[in-house]
Amino acid sequence: MSERTSIHGQWSSRLAFILAATGSAVGLGNIWKFPYITGENGGGAFVLVYLLCVCLVGIPVMMAEIMLGRRGRQSPINAMEWLARSEGVSPHWRLLGWSGVVAGFLILSYYSVIAGWALAYVFRAVGGAFEGLGPEGVKALFDRFVGDPEALLAWHTIFMVLTMIVVARGVRSGLERAVTLLMPALFVLLLILVGYALSTGAFGQGLDFLFKPDFGKLLFHCEVVNGREHCEFSGSPVLIAMGHAFFTLSLGMGAIMVYGSYMPKGVSIARSSFVIAIADTLVALLAGMAIFPIVFANGLEPGAGPGLIFQTLPVAFGAMPGGRLFGTLFFVLLVFAAWSSAISLVEPAVAWLVENRGMSRVRASVWTGFWVWLCGLVTIFSFNIGRDWRLWGKTGFDLLDYLTANIMLPLGGLCIALFAGWVMRRASSEDELAMGRLGFGLWWGVIRYVSPLLVLVVFMHAIGVF
Ligand code: TRP
Repeated sequence: MSERTSIHGQWSSRLAFILAATGSAVGLGNIWKFPYITGENGGGAFVLVYLLCVCLVGIPVMMAEIMLGRRGRQSPINAMEWLARSEGVSPHWRLLGWSGVVAGFLILSYYSVIAGWALAYVFRAVGGAFEGLGPEGVKALFDRFVGDPEALLAWHTIFMVLTMIVVARGVRSGLERAVTLLMPALFVLLLILVGYALSTGAFGQGLDFLFKPDFGKLLFHCEVVNGREHCEFSGSPVLIAMGHAFFTLSLGMGAIMVYGSYMPKGVSIARSSFVIAIADTLVALLAGMAIFPIVFANGLEPGAGPGLIFQTLPVAFGAMPGGRLFGTLFFVLLVFAAWSSAISLVEPAVAWLVENRGMSRVRASVWTGFWVWLCGLVTIFSFNIGRDWRLWGKTGFDLLDYLTANIMLPLGGLCIALFAGWVMRRASSEDELAMGRLGFGLWWGVIRYVSPLLVLVVFMHAIGVF
C-alpha cells in the first residue's frame, strides 16, 4: 500500500511539526489564563493537580491525538470517520470531529477578544502609558479599556483578520518561519521578567503561592462575608485544573489531530509530545514566577480574574529601567503566541470545508472567520454593557470558557483515549507509534485505563458524587 498523505500538504520536517504544535500549545493559556486561574483557585495545590493531569492525561492523550491524525490524514471529522470504518465500527465517531469544530469555534470567539487586549497593550506600552502609573493607575487604565465595547470590538476584529490571513495562506508558508524566531524570544523575555520579579522582594512569597500546596483551598471554596469566612465544598477547582491541562496543550478538539495529519511518517510521536508538553509547562511556570511576586510586592489581589496580567505586568513595566522596551516586546510576543495558537483553533473546520465542500482555503477562512468574529460579541459585552447578564450565575465569557475548557475538551479527550485504547487494534497503534516494547506497553496501559478513569473521576467529583 502506498503511503497516504493529506491533500493539504505536510510539514517540512520533524522540527517544523514540533514548532507548529508548540506554537499552538503555547499561547494565552500559559501566560494569561494559567496565572489567573491559579490565583483564583488558591495556588500550589491547584498547580500540582494541573501538573499531574499534564503527565497522566495530557501527554498520553496528545500521543493518541497525533496518532489518530497521522493515520487518518484528513480533517478530524473525516479522519475519525475513516478510522472508524477501517476498524469496523460505526462511522458516527465522526461526531467527535464535529464536537471539536464547535469547541474550536467557541474558544476562538473569546480567545480573539483577549488577544485583542494584548494587541491594544502593545500600543500602550510603546507610548509609555505605564510609566510611573502604579498599581491603582494600571487598574483604572484596564477598567476603562474593557469598559469600552467599541475599542474591544476594534481590536478583536483586527486579531481575527490577522488569524484568518494566515489560515487562508496555509499554515506552512508564514507561520513555520515566524514561530522559529518568536518562541525562543518569548522564552528569553519571560526569563528577564522573572529576573525583575526576583528584585521585587516578594519572590519567595510568589514561589510559595505557586508551589506550596494547601489542599483545603482546592476542595473548599471560601468567601469572606461580613468579615467572616464561609467555606463550602467545591468540586470545580480540580475540574478547572484538568480542563486547563487540555486547554494549554490544545487537546480534545482536533487541533493537534489536524497538525498530526500533516506530520511526516517516521517522526517519533512520543518524543515530539514530550518536547511540546515540557516547553508548554515551562512557559506557564515561568509566567507564574514572573507575575505572582509582582502581585504580592504591590499588594494586588491574586484572584483578580481575567484581567490579572493586564493589571500586574504593566506595574512592573512602569517601574523598571527599560520598561518601555520590555513592555512593548512582551505584549508583541504575547500577540504572536496567541496568533500561532488561534490558527490551530479553526484549522479543523477550514480543512473540512476544503475537503467536503470543495471550497478554496480563502473562502473557507472568510466563512469561518466571520461566524467566529460575530460570536466574539458575547465575550466583548460580558466586560461592559452585559457585565450583569448571567446564565447559571456566569457571565457570557465565563460560560463560554467553562463549557469549552472544562466540559467539551475533557469529554473530547476522553473519547479520543477510548478510541485509541479500545477501538483501534493494538497492531494499528503499535505500527503508528513505532516505539520500544516497554514504552508502548506503558502508553497502552495509561490510555486504556488511567486517563479515561481520571477524567471520569474528576467529572464525578465536580458534580459532587464524592
Ligand atoms: N493551547 C492554546 C493556549 O494555551 C490555546 C489553544 C490553541 C487551544 N488550540 C487549541 C485550546 C485547541 C484547546 C484546543 O493558549
